[in-house]
Amino acid sequence: MKVPKRLQPLVEDGMIDEVISQLMSGKEAQVFVVRANDHVQCAKVFKEAKQRSFKQAVEYQEGRKVRNTRRARAMSKKTQYGQKEQENAWLNAEVDALYQLAAAGVRVPKPYGFIDGVLLMELITDAEGYVAPRLDDVTLSREDALRWHEQIIKEIVRMLCAGLVHGDLSEFNVLLNEEGPVIIDLPQAVNAAGNNNAERMLARDVNNMRAYFGQFAPELLTTQYAKEMWDLYESGKLTPESQLTGQFAEREDLADVDELMSVIEAATTEEQERLERLRAANED
Ligand SMILES: Nc1ncnc2c1ncn2[C@@H]1O[C@H](COP(=O)(O)OP(=O)(O)OP(=O)(O)O)[C@@H](O)[C@H]1O
Ligand SMILES: [Mg+2]
Repeated sequence: MKVPKRLQPLVEDGMIDEVISQLMSGKEAQVFVVRANDHVQCAKVFKEAKQRSFKQAVEYQEGRKVRNTRRARAMSKKTQYGQKEQENAWLNAEVDALYQLAAAGVRVPKPYGFIDGVLLMELITDAEGYVAPRLDDVTLSREDALRWHEQIIKEIVRMLCAGLVHGDLSEFNVLLNEEGPVIIDLPQAVNAAGNNNAERMLARDVNNMRAYFGQFAPELLTTQYAKEMWDLYESGKLTPESQLTGQFAEREDLADVDELMSVIEAATTEEQERLERLRAANED
């Protein structure tokens, strides 16, 4: 196909040999199949900031590290330089997340590089070499739904152990190849420890997967993996090998509070009685 304008510099530099086709254009980016180094790869071109949508919301930005303080100061200002830095931080977030997760063994496309706002990565394909379908494109047997659900839960755990929450996980951002689900589309990934919304976002991600796979295996609909996972994570016990059950007993905090109150009340009464006895003894 004709080389799109945004890919032109990479073609000129020899990073890309040929643009083969365009995949579905998402809300945030355009995705192309390209040939580079004699391999078929995937090129994701981010849209300009103005055209992009919800993912830049502040809830995602919290806890994101900006190493350079001059940059951090610039980003907080509404200057052109500040906006540019904000934009770069956003683009870099997906690339950083991909490298971090690939290194942690999470099933994500292998990143190959990030040049001029274009992310080059592994093209996920099915058994025949065609571009892999999204979960939303497939119908599953109950057995496959249970199997792939178990696997995506493991991937989410591995991600959390690496310190990240996807933040926009749904049947549109998970591809399916022969070995199972592959997670894509990560520019909004949030820092699990540094973002106050992380627990809520993790629950949304996990419960989106529950609802999707639950269509084919309804027994999944009552599982509580999000709570179980977060509870282990918070107490420092979550590892990629953790065996989750999908069951979660709400901690009986309220009952504990009631019990505590009655202990305090009993102690207070006892103390009052003691003081009264002392006072009475003094008056004698
Ligand atoms: N590495 C890949 N291999 C194969 N297909 C991919 C790959 N990355 C993206 N795609 C395809 O391109 C589509 C858009 O990619 P992605 O979800 O990353 O972009 P987006 O514009 O941010 O999406 P969204 O609409 O969710 O905001 C995906 O739904 C998927 O079909
Ligand atoms: Mg997407």
